[in-house]
Amino acid sequence: MSENISTLQENRYSYIPKLPKGISGKMESIKINFGKSTEAFADRAELKQMFSNTYGQPTATFSNESSNAKTDPLTVGVILSGGQAPGGHNVIAGLFDGLKKVNKDSKLIGFLGGPSGILENKYIDITDEYLAEFRNTGGFDIIGSGRTKLETEEQFETCAQVMKKLGVTSLVVIGGDDSNTNAALLAEYFKSKDISIQVIGVPKTIDGDLKTREIPISFGFDTACKVYSELVGNIARDSNSAKKYWHFIKLMGRSASHIALETALQTHPNICLIGEEVDKKQQTLDNIVGNIVDVILKRSNNGCDYGIALIPEGLIEFIPEMKALIAELNDILAENEKHFSTLSGFTEQSEFINHKLSRDTSYTFSSLPWDIQRQLLMDRDPHGNVQVSRIETEKLLIELVESKLKELKNKGEFKGKFSAQSHFFGYEGRCAAPSNFDADYTYSLGVAAVLLINAGLTGYMSSIQNLLSSSDDWIAGGIPVTMMMNLEQRHGKKKPVIRKALVELEGAPFKEFKARKKEWAINTRFRYPGPIQYFGPDGVCDAITITLKLEQENIN
Ligand code: FBP
Repeated sequence: MSENISTLQENRYSYIPKLPKGISGKMESIKINFGKSTEAFADRAELKQMFSNTYGQPTATFSNESSNAKTDPLTVGVILSGGQAPGGHNVIAGLFDGLKKVNKDSKLIGFLGGPSGILENKYIDITDEYLAEFRNTGGFDIIGSGRTKLETEEQFETCAQVMKKLGVTSLVVIGGDDSNTNAALLAEYFKSKDISIQVIGVPKTIDGDLKTREIPISFGFDTACKVYSELVGNIARDSNSAKKYWHFIKLMGRSASHIALETALQTHPNICLIGEEVDKKQQTLDNIVGNIVDVILKRSNNGCDYGIALIPEGLIEFIPEMKALIAELNDILAENEKHFSTLSGFTEQSEFINHKLSRDTSYTFSSLPWDIQRQLLMDRDPHGNVQVSRIETEKLLIELVESKLKELKNKGEFKGKFSAQSHFFGYEGRCAAPSNFDADYTYSLGVAAVLLINAGLTGYMSSIQNLLSSSDDWIAGGIPVTMMMNLEQRHGKKKPVIRKALVELEGAPFKEFKARKKEWAINTRFRYPGPIQYFGPDGVCDAITITLKLEQENIN
């Protein structure tokens, strides 16, 4: 073994991901069963028109029964799209092994660097030897990922030409809500033009916001949350030992607060902000700071000048005045892209922006610390969104809390000490070695994707359900992507998109948090989950997230 391969990695190579019984046998014992035809979440009539070839298809599941499934060789292309998530390599392993199960002459072609790999005709043939080094490992480095969007007809045509030349008759898109929306558009386009290329999606994102009843979790969420929970638990124990710091910890999650919520359920911090609650209650920055200060004062009165506060990365866009500011900034920056790029420094840029902003948002902008103003003006992502991972909300909150506490100290209303440390956990978890759950789940998603292809389907997303049961009894299948869609306003136009699954304030995980957060705030009830375990008792190694457990237990 190479000296660059860790002992854990070497041992993980021999891990055999568990497959549901329904898809673990030979092809002649895997039967596809169709459910009823489906409808979209909302905007059904418009979506039916937009997806006239792929709308309303039935759900599909696989069972362990005799069948006459086809066994002709297949040539499948695959892309990884968007941010890394633990388990991507095992989706590809599942695809590869699934294809060989159909026919040993099947081929898997990996397009390099994300969707742009198709447009630029950059690819590799994935072989058993090449894949061996990546089985059960984290990362997307097997073929790389990217954030290029496949959305125009011209791009769709190029995709068709490139794939036809390579003999690729199906494409698997491993991505989040945006990438899977575009995969559905691509599937529809191919069908409408009689191009015989199928498109199948696989639900990926650590953010956990791509889910429905049939797709109970996106892959990567489990591992990433376990890594963050370990780190937060370790810091909580340090905080409880040294008793001198408040730790403000920002956690990844572009929009939804699922990661922060799961980490809170695992570690019992004193404070955890949930963006969706802030939005519902229309809490201003001032309200949020006031609530944090309240907890700090109460703990201080109990002699505890230390604690843990979790902050979801997407919080900033849920705070009403910040939401309004960001929306205006996005428009101004999009409309004045060229001119803005010629401005030489921050002073010139902020002057220009301040002139363009409305009165209220200009006030919000000017009242923010310079660093935050600068971060808000940084480049947008390819979807025109502000890059929230680069905005130091944790530092902003520390600064505002500090100044409030100073005021209270001067008035004699705060007698304790406040010393804060800031942290941001995101990249630490995105490429971690997948937990057993993610290793098994992703491998199953990969195999299921091949079976959907082999059944001639297109415009589907691979799905694994019944996740509270042992993996033997998981149910593999697929759901039509249009089922997850509605229309949303994007750049002034109504566009079909997969509806983002935000934290539901009536859902079981949030209710559990809400019931316990007061107790965790004032008292010290930290919980220390420790590192992911890959070897040992099943109860430890195969444990699922609290979020998934509570959601599945409460399915009606
Ligand atoms: P995806 O939605 O593509 O899975 O990515 C999620 C994410 O990890 C977010 O949590 C984070 O805000 C973003 O990617 C950061 O991406 P980048 O490293 O490309 O800036």
